[in-house]
Amino acid sequence: MSTESVYDQITELVRTRDIIICSGSGGVGKTTTAAVLGMEAARLGRRAVVVTIDPAKRLADALGLGELGIGNQPRSIEGRWPGSLAAVMLDTKSTFDDLVVGYSSDPEQAERILANRFYRNISGALSGTQEYMAMEKLYELQASPDFDLVVVDTPPSRNALDFLDAPRRLTRFLDHRLYRALTAPTRGVMKAVNVAAQAFVRSVSKVVGGEVFDDAIAFFQAFEGMEEGFKDRAELVLAALTSPRTAFVLVASPKRDTVQEARYFAGKLAEADLTVAALVVNRMHPRFTEEMPEALAARSETLGDTDLGGLFRNLADFALVAHREEEHLSGLADQVSPAPVIRVPFLRSDVHDLVGLDQIADQVFGRAR
Ligand SMILES: Nc1ncnc2c1ncn2[C@@H]1O[C@H](COP(=O)(O)OP(=O)(O)OP(=O)(O)O)[C@@H](O)[C@H]1O
Ligand SMILES: [Mg+2]
Repeated sequence: MSTESVYDQITELVRTRDIIICSGSGGVGKTTTAAVLGMEAARLGRRAVVVTIDPAKRLADALGLGELGIGNQPRSIEGRWPGSLAAVMLDTKSTFDDLVVGYSSDPEQAERILANRFYRNISGALSGTQEYMAMEKLYELQASPDFDLVVVDTPPSRNALDFLDAPRRLTRFLDHRLYRALTAPTRGVMKAVNVAAQAFVRSVSKVVGGEVFDDAIAFFQAFEGMEEGFKDRAELVLAALTSPRTAFVLVASPKRDTVQEARYFAGKLAEADLTVAALVVNRMHPRFTEEMPEALAARSETLGDTDLGGLFRNLADFALVAHREEEHLSGLADQVSPAPVIRVPFLRSDVHDLVGLDQIADQVFGRAR
């Protein structure tokens, strides 16, 4: 067992890793945690960038991503840190467009694809696109000489690990039999269309509406020669995700159902040979006392209907909630062991500015004890 405190351990991640990915189920505090980790890195003198996904409006404003911030390029945040902090709001479509431009053999090919109706629809609607583009952005930023650390917030996925699967899914899509047939000489196209295309066309139609088939063929033909580049790129992204210089921070809340989701998530990461580097449990009820809830309840009984009795009943209720939360958590903590477990209490209000982020940071890094 290491004698380092959990705070030392999470500080070490922020101080040394190249990539930190905050994952977890919807609404648990991924965006908040990602911003806090990036800010701490800046405090430690590193040049950090946070990739956020749909931050709440006021937090976006605080991060300099308000009205003007819509776009795909990092903006630096003013702060008195020895290092620096930038934030970028993920724009799925323009990230995909940048990829197309990057892998086209010439500007005309890029233009043909970007203008294609089929492309314009799938670039937003293909399942997992947002997850994949988050990982793309991550890859692009970690390769940039401007940053030492990229912190990534992940989309609230229904499917826990969509972002891990996304590069593979893109590869599979490009390997699709129909896609191969369509990009092959014309005889193959007709054959494939007759035999195998019905289901594919039907599912694509559902997404993009009628008249799609010509657009689709035009798209696949325009795409010709680019699939190798895309596949190589997907491999690189996957390699970055699985590198030992990348850390996964699992964010959870202490409620029974979110703990279940976090356990599922942790299991999926383990299946993919990825380890949880830290577990952040957000919005915990405070523990005012080490006394057991039953003892407090008994005490309130003996005090009866007095002010003090009322206060003890209140304390007993709080202790019970905190006790239950720890019970819910214990299995998850064991599952991710030896990852440090960082407990963050409920704050009095939402976290919507740098002051709020600072308060969470003080909790995450143990300055609030
Ligand atoms: N410890 C806390 N105390 C009080 N409010 C909090 C705390 N942590 C987060 N919040 C608030 O809870 C809301 C959800 O947090 P956040 O946006 O970080 O979650 P998320 O996991 O990114 O959500 P989504 O899955 O929808 O993207 C925000 O309004 C945030 O300000
Ligand atoms: Mg979020």
